[in-house]
Amino acid sequence: MKAVIRNDIHAAAELLRNGELVAIPTETVYGLAANAFDPDAVLKIFQVKERPAFDPLIVHIGKKEDLDRVAFSFPPSAEALIENFWPGPLTLVLPKRREVPDLVTSGLDTVGVRMPAHPIALQLLQHLDFPLAAPSANPFGYISPTTAKYVSDQLGDRIPYILDGGPAMIGVESTILGCEEHEGAGKWRCYRVGGIPLEVIEKVIGKVEHRSDPAAPVAPVMLTTHYAPRKPLLIGDVRILIAQDPQKRIGVIAFRDRFPSAYCHTLSPSGDLSEAARGLFSALRELDNSDVELIVAELFPAKGRGNAINDRLLRASASR
Ligand code: TXA
Ligand code: MG
Repeated sequence: MKAVIRNDIHAAAELLRNGELVAIPTETVYGLAANAFDPDAVLKIFQVKERPAFDPLIVHIGKKEDLDRVAFSFPPSAEALIENFWPGPLTLVLPKRREVPDLVTSGLDTVGVRMPAHPIALQLLQHLDFPLAAPSANPFGYISPTTAKYVSDQLGDRIPYILDGGPAMIGVESTILGCEEHEGAGKWRCYRVGGIPLEVIEKVIGKVEHRSDPAAPVAPVMLTTHYAPRKPLLIGDVRILIAQDPQKRIGVIAFRDRFPSAYCHTLSPSGDLSEAARGLFSALRELDNSDVELIVAELFPAKGRGNAINDRLLRASASR
């Protein structure tokens, strides 16, 4: 069996109603979706991705009102976040309702929820009478897919349908915020930097703490190694890294500059961090599938989506 790649929302909805998996487009990356209220369907996600059961899934909803079906007890600041950033690349971790199976949340009493901004994902969700649990549609630990073809390359033999929504417009996963104090205004922590920069979020709710203690991974997303290509990846001054290994075939990921390598991916010659984020994962994939022996990348400016880019590069380079 090879997955059908098409853009028929009705066919996708029918499969999902029957407890099957469908890969769906979102504005961040493609997701591997199942009925979030059906534990048997959700179990298939973990099997297909070879994902450990301790890593909880994000639940996707098609309308803001549906948040009440999966979570409860949010501070007023949650409403401000929702008004400003949904639909969009922001996941909120909130106390979960009992109706959400433990498998979805890996037994946690919280659930990650987001309303995606991709029009096809929204139409699909609004067609269904259940929300969709969906992690990124890649084998566990590998780079997230930003096109239907990338999903098909890795999971095409294991799922029936890939809903094609074109290349992902944002290209890095959602920002994840957890509400850790519900009294008063609520206190938010960032579990994963992503599509919405923290400085933009802080304009709405004030200072957000960063959760960066890898010894206590509340979200397994905080495990250091993730988003990783098979090839070794080094981060630093690209010119020096290339000079250190002159006889190797070296792939380069750079922001604005071109470097002397046949495999140089300059992500945004004009210096636009959103454009760079959009191209990051496909550059990593292409280099991983090429005959380079080593990938080197520079750090990006630490603002806007540059922080999400750096986070993914650093995790991808963490030694395995
Ligand atoms: O942009 C995205 O968020 C994409 C698209 C498909 O929506 N999804 C995505 O899912 O990146 P995934 O599973 O690859 O990463 C979600 C991370 C998980 O690694 C998990 O650690 C964290 O979200 N997470 C989910 N529920 C959580 C919870 N209740 N508490 C803490 N972390 C949670
Ligand atoms: Mg993922």
